[in-house]
Parts: sequence; C-alpha cells; structure tokens
Amino acid sequence: MTRIDRSAAFERARSVMLENDRGSYTIPTKGLYPFQWNWDSCLTALGQRHFDEDRAFTEIETLLAHQWPDGMVPHIVFHVDDEGYFPGPGVWRTGRPTPTSGITQPPVLAFVLRRLVETCRETAKAEDRARAMLPKANAWHEWFYAMRDPKGEGLVAILHPWESGRDNSIDWDEALAGVPTEGVEPYVRRDTTHVDASHRPHRSDYDRYMWLVQRFRSLGWDNAQLHDASPFQVVDPGFNAILIRADEDLASLARRLGASEIAEVAEARVAKARKAFARLWSEKHGQFVCLNRVAGKLVDSASVGGLLPLLAGLGTAQQQGLLAKRIREWRARSRFGVASHDPADPRFEPKRYWRGPVWIIVNYLLIDGLRRCGLDDVAGEVVADSMALIEESGFAEYYDPTTGEGLGGGNFTWTAAIIAELLTSAEA
Ligand code: DGY
Repeated sequence: MTRIDRSAAFERARSVMLENDRGSYTIPTKGLYPFQWNWDSCLTALGQRHFDEDRAFTEIETLLAHQWPDGMVPHIVFHVDDEGYFPGPGVWRTGRPTPTSGITQPPVLAFVLRRLVETCRETAKAEDRARAMLPKANAWHEWFYAMRDPKGEGLVAILHPWESGRDNSIDWDEALAGVPTEGVEPYVRRDTTHVDASHRPHRSDYDRYMWLVQRFRSLGWDNAQLHDASPFQVVDPGFNAILIRADEDLASLARRLGASEIAEVAEARVAKARKAFARLWSEKHGQFVCLNRVAGKLVDSASVGGLLPLLAGLGTAQQQGLLAKRIREWRARSRFGVASHDPADPRFEPKRYWRGPVWIIVNYLLIDGLRRCGLDDVAGEVVADSMALIEESGFAEYYDPTTGEGLGGGNFTWTAAIIAELLTSAEA
C-alpha cells in the first residue's frame, strides 16, 4: 500500500472505532451486537491505543469491573437495554448487578495489556493502570484451570460453543450432537433480522446453544458444578493457546511491575499447559485439533483453531513449519487467507460465519504467531491478504475467502482496530 492509502485506511478505521464508542466501552457493531463483548473489547483497545491511549485502558478496565466474584470475566456485559439482541439478560438471569452473560470468551486481555504497556507513550501512568489489573487477570486465568480443568490435566475445556468465540465452527458439530434439545423454551432469534440468515448459524445449532444456557442457569451459574454437568466439554487448541500466551504475557508484565508472585504462578501454569498440549496434535491433518473431552477423543476437524497454537510458539519447529504449510495450502485454495476452516473439507462453507469465512482478528493472531516462530514470509502474506480485504470490502465482520465479499455486520469495530494496529506496526 502507498503511504496515502495507509493514512486514509487508518482514518477510516478510526472513524469506525469512534462510531461504535459508547464512552467507557465499545460495541462490536450497531444492531447485531449492541453491548460489550469480552474479546472484542480487548482487541479493540489495541486499535484505540493509536489515537487515545487513555481510552484504550478504559476499555479493558470497564470489562474487568464486571468480573464475577469467582474470577470469571463474562463474555457479554449488558450495559443497556436493547431488544434487538437475543439472548438478552432476561434469558441469562445471572443475577449480576449489571447484567452479564454466564459464560466466558478467549482470554486475550493480558496479551493486549502487555502490548499497551510496552508501546505506550505515558509509561508511568500506563504501568499504574496495568498494575491494578494484574490480580484480576490472574484471578481469571486461575479460574480457567480451577473450573474448566477439574482433573488438573493442564488444558481447559469450553462448555459452550460461544465461549470459543468461533461460535458455529465445524469443530463443535460432533460434541454438539450430544447436546439434547428437549425442553428448550420457545425463542425468537434476532441475529437473522440484522444479517443474511444463510451467513449465520443454523437453527439446530441455536437450539443446542439455548439448551446449554438453560442447563447452566438451572444450576445457578455455579461454575464449580458446570464442567461436570455439561454434555459439551471441548478442549480447543486455539482457546488454550490464547490462554497460554496470555499467561506468558501476564508473567512478563508482572515481572516488569514487581508482582513476582503473580509472575511465578502464571509461569507454572504455562509450564504445565505446554507439556499437556502435545496430545492435541493430529498426524492425519498435520495440525492441532480439538479434543472432545466427553468422548475422550480428538475431533476430525481441521479449523483455524488448530493453527493458532503458533501464537504461543507451541509444537516443535517441524510442527510449526507444518502449520505454516497449512496456511499456504488454504490460501492457495481461496482468493484471500486465512479461511476459518480447511477449504478442502466438504463441510467448508465460505459464507457461514465460522465455518469458512476469514476473520481479520484471527489473521492478526496468526501473523503474531508466525512472526514469533520465525515464519515471517507467511506472516507477510497474511498481512497482505488482510489489507486487500479491507481495501476491497471495507471493515466487515468477516469475509468470504473465495470472493472477498464482506459479510455479517458492517463497520465492525475489531476489524477496524486490528487494521489500525497492522497499519501502524513497522512490518505491515
Ligand atoms: C452471537 O450472539 O452471535 C454471539 O457471537 C454470541 O456471543
């Protein structure tokens, strides 16, 4: 891109972030997602920092202000009433002072916080704000291993597909088939009034999403009970890699800020999880895959979640090379990378949410991971694809990898934030 293109693109990204800013938190997009979402918000802070450092910290502080007493940071904070979204607070009924959902999302928070501190202009102020957040981030990470790894295996399970952030990935199909639908209360979806229904999850998936919400609600959202009571327990390599990386970043930040106790416990979690991770490798697919903990076996599904371990430098150097090879193979089968599922799989759907489309935020995590693993050439290709997508189709929620068409919500905050981040980093 030329210099002029870069500054015009940055301005467009900034205006999307400002348009969706609600003062102390940012909504992902108007209509479809009118509240604060956990990982959206954290990744948004990465973009905000380029024009308002103070505001970037506030984004994360607002999210953490709604942390549960047990340590969980919920996936949605319902700051306002809005009938345009389902399921709203009346369905979740979590009893929180400001209503929240009852499940969590990928913990990118500490990864973002470290970057904010290391790149900020006002260092002392940033360090003070980050220091206050360290115990909260640590409590959340501890919560994961206590509540989602009750046997102490070193890997955490998600109990609801929405926790993965990759809602309707093919990764969940097999485990979701074990979730009943009997007794699901009648409901009306709202997502399909905002965007094309053929780009969203199927009704049969939604029924199971709702069954799980009802099941957990019937247990009073007591996390000590939910894992064993859930028929859906999936160990996602992408989710676990994000947690491991976040713990590494938490440890590094804690050392910098003189919180050595937090650094030590985070480092211990990382060491244990790294050892356990090897069991998620699939020789058949030449990448990591999910483990269905209920069935006790690996899931036959090659998704982008299995490439994300690059982010934490997981796997041997040879395995990392194979992950980069997968990215190149998938790119060769589509116009733009990186598809959220292997395009050679007959189940791949290029327009349906997480069953094929490209997500710029995932590209960003892959770029970071590829660079960490010394795979800079492939990282450069993913940067180029990401820029080409926004040039062609604007700041969409996700994109068809075969055509580049922008899909889902428009003027999407985290897409804009990540493009701002890529545009201002030296290597973009
Ligand atoms: C939705 O409602 O589609 C969200 O992704 C759930 O968090």
